[in-house]
Amino acid sequence: MTALLRATGIHKSFGEREVLRGVDIDLATHEVVALIGASGSGKSTLLRCLNLLEPIDDGQIFLDDEDISDPRIDANRVRARFGAVFQSYNLFPHLTVLDNVTLASRVVHRTPRREAEARALELLGRIGLADLAREHPDRLSGGQQQRAAIVRAIATDPEVLFLDEITSALDPELVGEVLELVRQLAADGATILMATHEMAFARDVAHRVVFLDAGTIVEQGPPADVLAAPREPRTREFLARFTA
Ligand SMILES: Nc1ncnc2c1ncn2[C@@H]1O[C@H](COP(=O)(O)OP(=O)(O)O)[C@@H](O)[C@H]1O
Ligand SMILES: [Mg+2]
Repeated sequence: MTALLRATGIHKSFGEREVLRGVDIDLATHEVVALIGASGSGKSTLLRCLNLLEPIDDGQIFLDDEDISDPRIDANRVRARFGAVFQSYNLFPHLTVLDNVTLASRVVHRTPRREAEARALELLGRIGLADLAREHPDRLSGGQQQRAAIVRAIATDPEVLFLDEITSALDPELVGEVLELVRQLAADGATILMATHEMAFARDVAHRVVFLDAGTIVEQGPPADVLAAPREPRTREFLARFTA
């Protein structure tokens, strides 16, 4: 299996604090990888480095064998091939849901408004949000906002979707509808790298689980191995917190 996205030797510090200490990670087309680890272990930083929102100190990142960590590349062109959803504050509050969803298509990809809106309404319709397309985000529940944010992220057909703890800020009763949408995207063949604390979801949906501890990958493999029968003491210790 050849990697769509491949990073080697990623180092990242904030001031004196080394947050990523030589991370090697790859992602194949249609693969769903769950990144797990304690708060502060570097999950968000790794995602932000991989999608070029954060400069790295050392290492290389390849997308389709192109070195996208080369400072000479056009980072905006690369970012246009990615989609990302974060924990919260994903939608622009001053834009309607429809304008949020179509913004990148119209501005970055130069898709005509009519075409972008037709596609957005189709996607919003699939998740039952077409009726709310002309509303501003504050009229939507947290779960609806996150689903709209996911739709916005996929509206440009990204090659890789980065999801960073997208259900962490939601009330528990709203988590299911968001995870269900991610499950559908995964079933449809999306390539997804997601930081998550939803272990049951990772077990069901991810092809591979990567455990990050203090900026290094300690263990990775199929969910049945890493989550159900971890080899490393640090993985066991981490997972014990979720089952206790
Ligand atoms: N922009 C930043 N400036 C300074 N420190 C940061 C910044 N972003 C993250 N950190 C620090 O990096 C460490 C890892 O953070 P993060 O990647 O957010 O971990 P996680 O997502 O696993 O909780 C934390 O100690 C955090 O405080
Ligand atoms: Mg984080």
